[in-house]
Parts: sequence; structure tokens; C-alpha cells
Amino acid sequence: MNDFREFNGLNKVPQHVAIIMDGNGRWAKTQGKDRLYGHTHGVESVRETVKSSVDLGIKYLTLYAFSTENWLRPKEEVDGLMELLVSAISEEIKALHESGVRFKTIGDITKLPPSCVDSLQEAVDFTSKNEAITLILALNYSSQEEILHAAQQIISEINQGVLQEKDLTKELFSRYLYTDGIPDPELIIRTSGEHRLSNFMLWQAAYAELHFTPVFWPEFRKKHLVAAIEDFQHRQRRFGKTSEQIVV
Ligand code: IPE
Ligand code: IPE
Ligand code: MG
Repeated sequence: MNDFREFNGLNKVPQHVAIIMDGNGRWAKTQGKDRLYGHTHGVESVRETVKSSVDLGIKYLTLYAFSTENWLRPKEEVDGLMELLVSAISEEIKALHESGVRFKTIGDITKLPPSCVDSLQEAVDFTSKNEAITLILALNYSSQEEILHAAQQIISEINQGVLQEKDLTKELFSRYLYTDGIPDPELIIRTSGEHRLSNFMLWQAAYAELHFTPVFWPEFRKKHLVAAIEDFQHRQRRFGKTSEQIVV
């Protein structure tokens, strides 16, 4: 039993929480520092959020770390982010493994620098048998590309006769996405006061509850995650039905 369920008395902790980690640059500015300082401090928030998620009994945690659009940033920032990724993985992987974290990625990681690809692959292999939580890092991720890629694969399989058009359902389509095997997120959190999805999980977010907090990512702590889950627990998820049809 996890501490949050005991503490709260509610059995409605989302199975999959996804976070759009935003506001590193603006936070750094408030400290009079450069943007990379913000990203570096964001790693501490990642560490605490993963640990808190295990404590709370969340089974899947997705963190949006780098979008396909983020390549448009100054080279110095992009290079710094890639280096930070490699150093953070090498520093954290042992502790993550010991906490039972299974590590995965979504997005086209083949376009990342080879050092990143290697350390990501190593982390995925090293933790593949763990079961406490699945930590999914969205890297070089674009939901539109993900959907397009799925459509291209499906068309090619239909052309080859491997797949029949009549067999294509929502469920089957979703198996061609990067998130195959991962349940859709019930809760998506975005930090830093921005109210948009920025090309994140457009298919998977169909019925997600959205929680926006003004807190910049480097300041995001367990209490903010708990607040988001409490907000989630007070939502009525109707999936198209009326309130009266929902059995509490
Ligand atoms: C989120 O923080 C991290 C990444 C997108 C890599 P930002 O770097 O977007 O910070 P702001 O939004 O400029 O403050
Ligand atoms: C979204 O944040 C991407 C990540 C958190 C990795 P951005 O800061 O890049 O989003 P926009 O450009 O403000 O929408
Ligand atoms: Mg931003």
C-alpha cells in the first residue's frame, strides 16, 4: 500500500501521469542565471518526482524532456541539454534501478547524438526487468510525427498484405504509436503557467485530465504532485455520459 492512498483514503491514484516539464529558462532568469542553469536544476525535480511517484503508487510516469521543435533553440542550449541528459543518466541510473524503475523512451531517439543513444539504450536494457514504475522519457518527441509514422507503417503493411484495412481499429492503431503497451495517461500536468500541449500525446490525451500549475519546473516538488493528484481526484470523469450515469 502506498502512503498517499493511506493518507488520503481515496483509491484513485492515476496509473499513468505525464508531465510537460516547462519553465526552466524563466526560472533561471529569476535567479539571474543562464538557461542551462535552469535545466541543470530541473534534474533535481526529475529525481524527486520519480521518487514521489513510486511512493504514491503511480505505475507509469512520462516526462516530456525534448520536443522535435526544441532543435530550433540556440545550438549552445541544445548541446548543453544533450550533455545533461547523458550525465544525468549516468549519475541516476544505479539509484533508479535500486528503486525498481523500468526506463523507456518515446520519440525518435535515433536522431540524438550517438552518446545519448548509447546511454539511453544501456539504461533501457539495464532496467528492463524492474516493476515498481515505468519511467518514460519523451525525447525528440512529436505527437504529430508519431501519428504520421503510425499511418505510414499501417499503409505499408496494408500494401504488403500483412494487414487488412477492415481490421484497423482505434486499439490496433494505437499499437503503432511509440506508446504501444503503455496505458493512456489519466493525468497530464504542465508546469510554468502555460496552457497548451505543445505537440505532446495528442492521441493519448483524448480523455486525460489536464492540470496546470504556475510553478516553474525546477521548483516542482512532491507537494505539487500531490496537489495535482488531489485535483484529479476531484474531477468527475464522464467519458461522454451524464453525471447521473456515473456511479460514484
Ligand atoms: C522546459 O523549460 C525544458 C525544455 C523544453 C527542454 P524551457 O526551457 O522551455 O523553459 P522556458 O519555457 O523557456 O521558461
Ligand atoms: C514543451 O515545452 C516541450 C518540453 C517540455 C520538452 P516548450 O517550452 O518547448 O513549449 P512551447 O514552445 O513553449 O510551446
Ligand atoms: Mg518552455
